[in-house]
Amino acid sequence: TAISWDAAMAEKGGFRHFMLKEIHEQPQAVLNTIRGRVVPETGEVRLPELGLDEAAVRALRRLSIIACGTSWHAGLVAKYWIEEWTGLPVEVELASEFRYRRPLLDGQVLAVAVSQSGETADTLAGLRMAKERGAPVVGICNVVGSTVTREAHGTLYTHAGPEIGVASTKAFTSQLAALYLLGLYLAQVRGDLDAAARREKIRALVAVPGILEGRLGAWQARCRELADRFYGCRDFLYLGRHLGFPLALEGALKLKEISYIHAEGYAAGEMKHGPIALIDREMPVTVVAPRDHVYEKVLSNMEEVRSRRGILIALGEEGDEALRQTADHVVEVPRPPDPALNPFLYAVPLQLLAYEIAVARGCDVDQPRNLAKSVTVE
Ligand code: G6P
Repeated sequence: TAISWDAAMAEKGGFRHFMLKEIHEQPQAVLNTIRGRVVPETGEVRLPELGLDEAAVRALRRLSIIACGTSWHAGLVAKYWIEEWTGLPVEVELASEFRYRRPLLDGQVLAVAVSQSGETADTLAGLRMAKERGAPVVGICNVVGSTVTREAHGTLYTHAGPEIGVASTKAFTSQLAALYLLGLYLAQVRGDLDAAARREKIRALVAVPGILEGRLGAWQARCRELADRFYGCRDFLYLGRHLGFPLALEGALKLKEISYIHAEGYAAGEMKHGPIALIDREMPVTVVAPRDHVYEKVLSNMEEVRSRRGILIALGEEGDEALRQTADHVVEVPRPPDPALNPFLYAVPLQLLAYEIAVARGCDVDQPRNLAKSVTVE
């Protein structure tokens, strides 16, 4: 009836699906994660909720990030940031694997459990193992009072607000923001980045919500056009390098979760070791191609696809003529103040592409078959 339709729409804030509403909430979600935790003027990051003492932070030898699914992809992004800023090695563990390995952890390894729900069984098992080994454990969680938050020594809440869509969107970008802050905080306490460098990084992060807000509408329209064209495809390949690699994994995961199209994310440099055999005129290859220090490499991977008549959808910087020449379709993304921010900017059009394709296929976007919002059993 008209009344129940109105109620359903109201619950979704006028959006057709929770997933779309949550995609559009990302500027606010990221802002909520950052708010009150940085002092842009001084370059200071304040995370008292971690409960870490500074001597312990200075004594760290390594980080071990433990997570599943999209949260694991957020961890993979953070590895690039934190290794660059602190010089500390960062391992990013699939919790379901980590829990059955010999746990090489001790008091000098910071364990970071990343979980939107804070209830994922494998992630909890990993967290408990880390604690038993004497590692300090930090949770990065969205759900207040969840098990991870109760068991970790300290929790960095993402404050993204409830996420209803099974496929994670705003939780992902707010996890990125939390991990970015964690990396800066560690670099601050350990003296790896000086105040000027941190000020720059904070200024850049604070610009993210505004950039996203300004682009959501155009990205959605562009992704709808692409979806009209490609919704009938059976397979997609996603490629990226450096920070673009975990984004390629996340883009592929979003697509398979909600559209049931087979999609693979790959490190662009690994294409020659297998996926290149798949290139044909049928399979779109979605490439994350910002103008960063690996851009030329990514462009030459795109040439390899092109010379085999593959279909190229590139996400890259506006005004990038070389990209336009090489790709069949381009989704324009603005150049951020610092390339470290690219994951925030590329995540959103990748989510929208998956969303529009799933809608075009008539899929149940918010409740995809066989998937659960939080997986509390093994
Ligand atoms: C499920 C959800 C994913 C999520 C993963 C980890 O598979 O469908 O969206 O990324 O669990 O969940 P967590 O709550 O631990 O982040």
